[in-house]
Amino acid sequence: MISFFCSRWRLLRAVLVIWVVGSLLASYIFLKTRPSYDLYNTLTRTELESSQKWLQVHGDKRKFVFFKQLQGAGFNNQVQEILLYHHLALSASRTYVYQPLVWRPRGEKSTVPLSAFLRGPIEGSISEAAFDSVCPPGQVTHITLGTVGFQDLWNHAKNSLSRDDRCIYVDDHILNWRYLASPAIHDIWPSFNQYLHDHFAWSNPVLKIVRRTQAKLRLRPGPHSLHGEPYMALHFRRGDFEEHCQVLANDRMGFTTWSTLPLLSDSIQPPALNTANISSVTEHCYPTLERLLAIIDAQAIARPHLRTLHVLHDGTWDHPLVYWQKLQLERALRDTSRARAAGWPENKPLAIRVVHSGMLQLAWGEGDMAVAADVEIARRADVFIGNGYSSLSSQIAALRLGADAGRKEDIVFM
Ligand SMILES: *[C@@H]1O[C@H](CO)[C@@H](O)[C@H](O)[C@H]1NC(C)=O
Repeated sequence: MISFFCSRWRLLRAVLVIWVVGSLLASYIFLKTRPSYDLYNTLTRTELESSQKWLQVHGDKRKFVFFKQLQGAGFNNQVQEILLYHHLALSASRTYVYQPLVWRPRGEKSTVPLSAFLRGPIEGSISEAAFDSVCPPGQVTHITLGTVGFQDLWNHAKNSLSRDDRCIYVDDHILNWRYLASPAIHDIWPSFNQYLHDHFAWSNPVLKIVRRTQAKLRLRPGPHSLHGEPYMALHFRRGDFEEHCQVLANDRMGFTTWSTLPLLSDSIQPPALNTANISSVTEHCYPTLERLLAIIDAQAIARPHLRTLHVLHDGTWDHPLVYWQKLQLERALRDTSRARAAGWPENKPLAIRVVHSGMLQLAWGEGDMAVAADVEIARRADVFIGNGYSSLSSQIAALRLGADAGRKEDIVFM
């Protein structure tokens, strides 16, 4: 009888412990990934207030444009087109109307104020809410821009927006994937390059994470800084790319946006991309570990002072395999006999210190900003190894070349 109670008690105790540990873990994950709604509410209020203040001074003289933007695509797909639309608005001497970012992981209806991430497109622009007050529905002209071929689209859009109507609402979404993958966008590069230099800026919350992370992980903030170690950054795009690359291969797609710039064609790891060949697309879009190691080996040999690597990865609960793949990469980069066989110089370290996205120094509520901080850290790296099929990699390349006048020799596409 006693032993019966004992084993019952032991079972109960075990269940209780599992329950407590489980709920502690669940609360931790919940709180850790919960955004700072206080901050977001404040930012939304500030956006409206500063838009209204700006309108009081400049409102009478200005024309406005509201673009139909992507809803719920990945963070960087949205940022990429926000920058392009902002550039287009400025090119047509119109005030850009900024909208919040749609935060897909929390559902299609969940938004984050743009000023949480970016400062550039906010300055001299007005928020969606302010647009509604200065341009009530009766005074808005609706237009569509995608009525011409890709080659003429940008100039056509600029000309159409130069008309006199004060308030324009663009009803069609012109910056679609096929346009962004087409050579037509090369003509935009010279002015976009200048745009990035003049207008690109992250928000303060993002820059705070970057500074904290670079200090903690000993990553050198720039070539002239005395703090931290010089480093390479690798965009290890895995997760859903395994299936996505199959689709791209079957559709014979090439790289996206700025990765297609002719000036970067020498930055592509050979053999050259041949979109007619499905294996070639896969090779560049979802490269093998061996291929990635070959790229890193070449850098380690050519630049013996680089022995730190920041890996931008997309490992999540629903893509746990990425963690394992990253582990394989790390193991290979610590293997000194492999490095020796690959021809690394013997008088320099034969292993690489690896840090990664999971080590970003995030405070409570800063989880949403992690991806932006990762982009900035990769932008500041001595060498960036990117994936030409990813808009995130393309954006990093554009920032390095455009905003920072960086060298194309410091960019490699896998
Ligand atoms: C297709 O690409 C793969 C990977 O680069 C290459 O090994 C193969 O020879 C290519 N096939 C043809 C027909 O070019």
